[in-house]
Amino acid sequence: MSTSSPTAAGPPLALLRCPQCLGDAALDPAADGWRCTRCDTAYPRLGGLAWLLPAPEARRVEWRQRFRLLERELEAARAAIGERLDAGGLLAATRARLERLRAAQAAQVEELRELLAPLEPEASIARLETLLALRTRTPLTQDLNSYYVNVHRDWAWGERENAAALQLATDLLAGAPARRVLVPGCGAGRLAFDLHHALRPELTLGLDLNPMLAWIAARVAGGGEVALHEFPVAPRCGSDVAVARRLRAPHAASAGLEFAIGDALRAPLRPGSFDAVLTPWFVDIVPHAFAPLVAQVAAMLRAGGTWANFGSLSFNQRDPASWHGPDEIVAILEGAGFEVLQTLDRQLPYLQSPASRHGRIETVFGFAARLRRTAAEPPPLDNLPDWLGDAARPVPLLPHFQTQALANRVVAYTFALIDGRRSTEQIAAHLVGQKLLLPGEAEAAVRSFLVALYEESQRRARF
Ligand SMILES: C[S@@+](CC[C@H](N)C(=O)[O-])C[C@H]1O[C@@H](n2cnc3c(N)ncnc32)[C@H](O)[C@@H]1O
Repeated sequence: MSTSSPTAAGPPLALLRCPQCLGDAALDPAADGWRCTRCDTAYPRLGGLAWLLPAPEARRVEWRQRFRLLERELEAARAAIGERLDAGGLLAATRARLERLRAAQAAQVEELRELLAPLEPEASIARLETLLALRTRTPLTQDLNSYYVNVHRDWAWGERENAAALQLATDLLAGAPARRVLVPGCGAGRLAFDLHHALRPELTLGLDLNPMLAWIAARVAGGGEVALHEFPVAPRCGSDVAVARRLRAPHAASAGLEFAIGDALRAPLRPGSFDAVLTPWFVDIVPHAFAPLVAQVAAMLRAGGTWANFGSLSFNQRDPASWHGPDEIVAILEGAGFEVLQTLDRQLPYLQSPASRHGRIETVFGFAARLRRTAAEPPPLDNLPDWLGDAARPVPLLPHFQTQALANRVVAYTFALIDGRRSTEQIAAHLVGQKLLLPGEAEAAVRSFLVALYEESQRRARF
């Protein structure tokens, strides 16, 4: 079998386009990456991968800030463990567990620093409080460590879960000609890697907007090794509280496997470029409803191309109409020009770490659908509105912002009253004095506020 280091060259130039202007012009190779010949936006190669996010420099700053926030949260967690150790009165086994955890957290920060070095994290000077307050999220629900566990599932826990996912993907794609395969939201890349090995297409391109995941995917699939601690949700024993893992591929990658950092909703890819698109556990985690997402996937496919999808249909949008069941999914696909070839329900093991007592079985819904004819290109689905992408635009006073502004003013005032001397009664009296609450309700309201605050301070922080 021929082998190659994925991403050495990057995705084929003929398939790329500028995710900023989405024009037809070519992305030209430049000394340190790529440049759009139409709008002149420059896309760097970072950590060996094409960084093809719109507004590339702003996105880099965002991911850098997210890493800084995570780093500071981890530091605070480690300091809290240190304080607990210093306070003493612990069983020998508890002490040993905490020391193990503290050492693993210190190692984890170093591991993450090494992995995320291309973000140049040292370029940020913000404090934890500032980062927390101004937390940027692109998109809102996706954070650097959102799929941290999946990384270990992909490359450290062995074959069982990965083999089951591959079986499902190949069952869905059975008989579909697939010269070029796209895996949007590929995460740490294992399914893209396995599928590429199983189907031997000319190209499998894994695209993810989370640089940590894409860098791990490329490095491990390219034959490298990544050291990354796992922190099981429900450790089987004290020594499982933190497990030093070495992420490795089970074999070399076949030629033609590529990874890139990009947003699948504003893909840096020419429409109609792929014979197959595979979206495992993806359609319900994007911030858009299924129908507009279908249009985006259709635009990536050539006429006659196949879309294979599976996942648990756990939609999170605010609009209840978008919480689709399988029959609605089929109707939407058909309405958008797809012929649904098969649907299935299948039980898959999910996130069953050998070091954890937690582990799920998911009954996933899968479908394979063929695009009948070339799809018209829909407008891009931006994760965030334009005024958030352009720092020079006015920020609209949305009703939710107005409510929050008022609520936060009350919160800030109440916090200011907590000075280590005032009682609940006295704080309540101040709020009544400011006509924020009625005398009959103030004390109970302040107590609820303090209870919530106190409980939050006692809860375990998870990263
Ligand atoms: C639930 S995980 C699934 C990961 C992988 N497909 C698997 O089967 O384990 C969702 C993935 O989609 C990625 N993602 C979310 N929104 C994305 C977007 N707009 N473009 C590209 N990737 C995205 C996340 O970073 C994450 O890796």
